[in-house]
Amino acid sequence: MELCSLRFAFVLALLLYPCFAAARGGDRRPISLLGQMDDQGWMLSRHLLEDQPLITDDMVSGYMSNSELEMAIKEFGRRCSNISRVYSIGKSVNSVPLWVIEISDKPGKDEAGPSFKFIGNVHGDEPVGRELLIRLANWLCDNYMKDSLAMLIVKHVHLHILPTMNPDGFALRRRGNANNVDLNRDFPDQFYPLNDRLESRQPETRAIMNWVKERRFTASASLHGGALVANYPWDGSQDTRKEYVACPDDKTFRYMASVYSHSHYNMSLSKEFEGGITNGAFWYPIYGGMQDWNYIHGGCFELTLEISDVKWPKSTELPVLWEYNRLSMLNLMASLLKHLLWQMIA
Ligand SMILES: *[C@@H]1O[C@H](CO)[C@@H](O)[C@H](O)[C@H]1NC(C)=O
Ligand SMILES: *[C@@H]1O[C@H](CO)[C@@H](O)[C@H](O)[C@H]1NC(C)=O
Ligand SMILES: [Zn+2]
Repeated sequence: MELCSLRFAFVLALLLYPCFAAARGGDRRPISLLGQMDDQGWMLSRHLLEDQPLITDDMVSGYMSNSELEMAIKEFGRRCSNISRVYSIGKSVNSVPLWVIEISDKPGKDEAGPSFKFIGNVHGDEPVGRELLIRLANWLCDNYMKDSLAMLIVKHVHLHILPTMNPDGFALRRRGNANNVDLNRDFPDQFYPLNDRLESRQPETRAIMNWVKERRFTASASLHGGALVANYPWDGSQDTRKEYVACPDDKTFRYMASVYSHSHYNMSLSKEFEGGITNGAFWYPIYGGMQDWNYIHGGCFELTLEISDVKWPKSTELPVLWEYNRLSMLNLMASLLKHLLWQMIA
């Protein structure tokens, strides 16, 4: 389709379907999209309308602040130094380092086996992931000598954990980063090449892109909140219609997403999503997302995991959320090995 009419169809479709869901997608409030056009008539889809933070001090209590998270990461690095390394992949707009915990029996070495990355807190107001990822790292450290699954992962999967991709958004208690850009709309997109404009790429997005190009990740998952479902590519559809758009590795992706949902306490029992999984575009199409970019440009099988219906639950619920997701996270990583073994004998 010609770009101009494609663009028109995109805007039109968005006008007809102003909002679907809140988690990966936009805002639940009905909004006038006409107000968001830039000088070329293109949707400023990366930018958010000014969100009024509704997160009270009470809700924040019990969650680690950014400096507490940084301390927890450094402390982890000291405590588990023989299976880990801590490094930074860049800085946020407000100069908060984007710390990564690497976990492996050979930290800092390039290995031939599969590598996995977890990214939390892409959206500032979805903080459960950053807390669960610190728990995941500590659990692996405490158990890799006594639990067979932990042992398998530390030995055979090279794991990289970025607890927060959006520390500024977290501090501001809102979805976007310090420039109020939705980082999960900021990546180059296969259907909307205008998202390729480099000059407006956010530093957090750039850090992820460089990281992915520098390292070879076999698979990954980013953690979100606002729904309970394991979402897989494609996230976008050519014509902005809500429809199942299968990527070339659809079967593998459905397998990975099912591993997560069926290992979870109750994700697979979803009434909204059959088996607790969904194709992104079938749920609602998004453009500029991290997941599709990883698959296309990083050769990395990335899932978008919505791990709690409530975006910002009370901190007292975190231990339970960790228990609900623990086996899912572990099995997802271990599935790379089973998959590999399967390929070897097939
Ligand atoms: C880590 O240290 C412990 C002793 O503190 C040792 O038993 C273990 O083998 C070490 N693990 C690795 C992967 O080197
Ligand atoms: C899963 O369990 C939680 C906590 O009990 C509950 O709030 C949620 O509605 C359940 N979801 C499904 C799909 O069963
Ligand atoms: Zn999100």
